[in-house]
Amino acid sequence: MADQSTTPGTFPTVRLRRLRQNPALRRLIAETTLEPRRLILPLFVRSGQGKREPIASLPGHCRLSPDMAAEEARQAQRLGLGGIILFGIPDEKDDVGSDAMSDSGIVQQALRAVKDAAPELLAVTDICCCEYTDHGHCGVLVQRGGRRDVDNDATLDLLGRQAVSHAAAGADLVAPSGMMDGMVGAIRRELDSAGRTDLPIMSYAVKYSSAFYGPFREAAASAPSEGDRRGYQMDAASAAGQAVREASLDVAEGADIIMVKPALAYLDIVRQVRDALPGVPIAAYSVSGEYSMIQAAAERGWLDAQSAALESLTAIHRAGADVILTYWAKDVAKWLT
Ligand code: PBG
Repeated sequence: MADQSTTPGTFPTVRLRRLRQNPALRRLIAETTLEPRRLILPLFVRSGQGKREPIASLPGHCRLSPDMAAEEARQAQRLGLGGIILFGIPDEKDDVGSDAMSDSGIVQQALRAVKDAAPELLAVTDICCCEYTDHGHCGVLVQRGGRRDVDNDATLDLLGRQAVSHAAAGADLVAPSGMMDGMVGAIRRELDSAGRTDLPIMSYAVKYSSAFYGPFREAAASAPSEGDRRGYQMDAASAAGQAVREASLDVAEGADIIMVKPALAYLDIVRQVRDALPGVPIAAYSVSGEYSMIQAAAERGWLDAQSAALESLTAIHRAGADVILTYWAKDVAKWLT
């Protein structure tokens, strides 16, 4: 029998613990590093002045009036974040979500305030109908075979108008999230014909129908009043190849950045999309439920929010996300300094 103490290629010659023994060695060989520049902070905006209305389901986050959103943007810029993404909560909702397309809509007002306060900060807007429609669906409803369904092609027109209006109000990047077929192409065409060939699109290309959006829907009062979103958002049990098809189609339609959402329960999908589309920047949305479940457990003393958050976000980045949308964006920037 060979002398175990000199066996090459295996234990005890090889000991992987040697590089884990102190922080200096661990830091030296770390591969995945979170950086504030990769993080986008979601903000909810509503009408008014000086208003910060706490969102019970998203502890630490508020529905903000445009002036307060501007204050947050100033902070985000100071912290070196990658950007903010705005979600509007209009005073009035109707069947087509008119506020979303109005130049005096809530997101348009907030955009002007935000760009004024923090001109260097990337201002992203979510392009969808669900926060603006009285029925809470992501598009126009039609009667079809005894049930109401979202009319894909009629919705495209609304999304194009919303994007052009956001662009005019100062958006630096528009992010369609409604999972309509052809939404990226329709928005690209509308922006181009409005002379905005320069404005990039970050598509929520791979968006699953998920229970993890619960706190967001409370924040934005956007839960569908009837039915669910399974007719347009993806099924968690569908083939991973479908995610790659969705992403590739959106790239072909002109998407500049591809997003996977949610993040934590879909790390395999982030990796597959990353590998299938070399050179295409990939974003992942660490959604409201991912934030709230950790915050809630931490409130009970069951885990440490900072370490659990950093571990989750590190995993999302390691899986292949270049950009991460997260409710912890400001916290991470502070924790890392
Ligand atoms: C709008 C939209 C939603 C989220 C982002 N954009 C809600 C939904 O699809 O129901 C969810 C974000 C989150 O949960 O943090 N369509």
